[in-house]
Amino acid sequence: MCGIIGYTGDKQAAPILLEGLRREAYRGYDSSGMVVFGTSPKLVRAVGKLEELEQKVATLSMDGIFGIGHSRWATHGEVTEVNAHPHADCKSNVFVVHNGIVENYRELRTKLKEKGHAFSSDTDTEILAHLIEHFFEGKLEEAVRKAMRLVRGTYGLLVAAAQDPGKLVAARLSSPLVIAVNGTGGFVASDPAAIITHTKKVVFLEDGEVATVTADGFTVTDLENNVKDKEITELEWSVEEAQKGGRPHFMLKEIEEQPESLQNALRGRLLVEEGKAKLGGLEPFAERLRSTDRLIITAMGTASLAAMVGEYMIEEYAGIPVEVENAAEFRYRKPVIGKNTAFLAISQSGETADTLAALAEAKEKGALTLGLINVIGSTLARQVQAGIYNHAGPEIGVASTKAFTSQVAVLALLALFFGRQRSLSLVQGRRIAEALSALPGLVQKTLESASAVEKVAEKYKDASDFFFIGRKYSYPVALEGALKLKEITYIHAEGYGAGEMKHGPIALIDEKFPTVAVVPSDSVYEKTLSNIQEIKARRGPIIAVASEGNNEIEEIADDVLYIPKTLEMLTPILSVIPLQLLAYYIGVKKGRDVDKPRNLAKSVTVE
Ligand code: G6P
Repeated sequence: MCGIIGYTGDKQAAPILLEGLRREAYRGYDSSGMVVFGTSPKLVRAVGKLEELEQKVATLSMDGIFGIGHSRWATHGEVTEVNAHPHADCKSNVFVVHNGIVENYRELRTKLKEKGHAFSSDTDTEILAHLIEHFFEGKLEEAVRKAMRLVRGTYGLLVAAAQDPGKLVAARLSSPLVIAVNGTGGFVASDPAAIITHTKKVVFLEDGEVATVTADGFTVTDLENNVKDKEITELEWSVEEAQKGGRPHFMLKEIEEQPESLQNALRGRLLVEEGKAKLGGLEPFAERLRSTDRLIITAMGTASLAAMVGEYMIEEYAGIPVEVENAAEFRYRKPVIGKNTAFLAISQSGETADTLAALAEAKEKGALTLGLINVIGSTLARQVQAGIYNHAGPEIGVASTKAFTSQVAVLALLALFFGRQRSLSLVQGRRIAEALSALPGLVQKTLESASAVEKVAEKYKDASDFFFIGRKYSYPVALEGALKLKEITYIHAEGYGAGEMKHGPIALIDEKFPTVAVVPSDSVYEKTLSNIQEIKARRGPIIAVASEGNNEIEEIADDVLYIPKTLEMLTPILSVIPLQLLAYYIGVKKGRDVDKPRNLAKSVTVE
């Protein structure tokens, strides 16, 4: 899996394909390739950075006005040129690029081998080229439909054939694809960012659909060839938004964008005087939500840590029992879901395979399904009954930053929404609404101490282990701080509830093992302070994230990073910022690829 791009029109295809791949590169990849159909198909593939592919393309004459390209993040088979996409059948007629997994590939491969097909790669994807060729009788879309009826698994598939030129055929099951036609040509991509410079009017494919795209039009059918009516979506995101805005890395740009992304998440949703939250997407379900007696929140990665903050907020202010569960676990156990259970899936991309599968499970069991999603029109956004977008804008850095804070802000809105439907008073409601509206300014203020964080990063960059600790609302923040550090710097880091330290982790503490303690002046401040002292007594260096005005902490901690004061439940939005910056600066100082850390992908669309 990773980035897919296809073009058919009147321009040279190779530069368009390369540009598309570059725009999709943020998703993470380990190899890439393309085929351009001139007088005969020209296939080029390369391991490593896109520059490798670019160099190869420059030395060959990739003449042609129609072709497909791919950047691969290995799932089946080693990272080699032979395993990179596109893959072709034995006759070099059908070429495919594919995101996802063919689950029955062994069985299909055996059958195709019996029919005389020979395979040149270890990938499941190559099977698809041979299978489509097997059904090919001149019309590519017909062959694709026939072939895909036999495939089990997931796919965002793009196919082109030398013997049916000028035509892109795309098929989707659980892996996103978008198509567009703009007057000069037709496009297919796995990510709208790949084609945003050509057109903002796109069509999202749904599961089970097959699109045939030519230079001047498209048709969409299902696998049985029933024609589907498709809506054109006008994308909100500008090209500039998807660029770095002058910063050296997307990650820094996205950290610095948080005052704005929070503003966008809150815009039009706070009724400060009434002490209420207005969440348009939930309104049609307001009555059902009033009788909701249990909320399950599921997500993966950073989104699941935002979910934990949400759990504490919603239980505290709305009194609804909330459970947070990792989607990869939820999908396989036998969860009990009552008729008044609501299910909330949180996902930046809206494409995380485990989160989608958990949603399907909850749906089947009759829960009211809700989504908190960043990517408009994503699979999750289309599958939930009611949704709230967090409007953080495109997040390109693989490690999530601004999506996290805006998810927490929307969860605070949700706590307010549920709370005011129940027993939360007007006064309390107003207090939350006021604190929320002050947040973007406080985030801006927090960002102004970036240079203090950079100094701490310099001091500790060579440590080989870190603990992150916190209690109550700062516990998920500690987990997120540890996750950010390991993702970006490859330093071993673990997050713990501060109270857990003496049950094991403290055994590791010595003068070389720093602990980042998230310790705002809140209801558990004294408790956390005692835990910090226990670490200090074992000569462990302490970096504290504390509230402005707390001078006493300087006597205990080796370094202090200050955050402005806010309502206790909103402290995660401020305290996570120095932790994001700490990971970022250490990563940069260690020469890491902070926007594309090794082994990670922005959107994990396989199990
Ligand atoms: C990947 C990303 C993380 C993200 C997680 C969940 O692991 O690298 O940054 O938190 O997926 O992604 P989602 O798009 O569902 O929020």
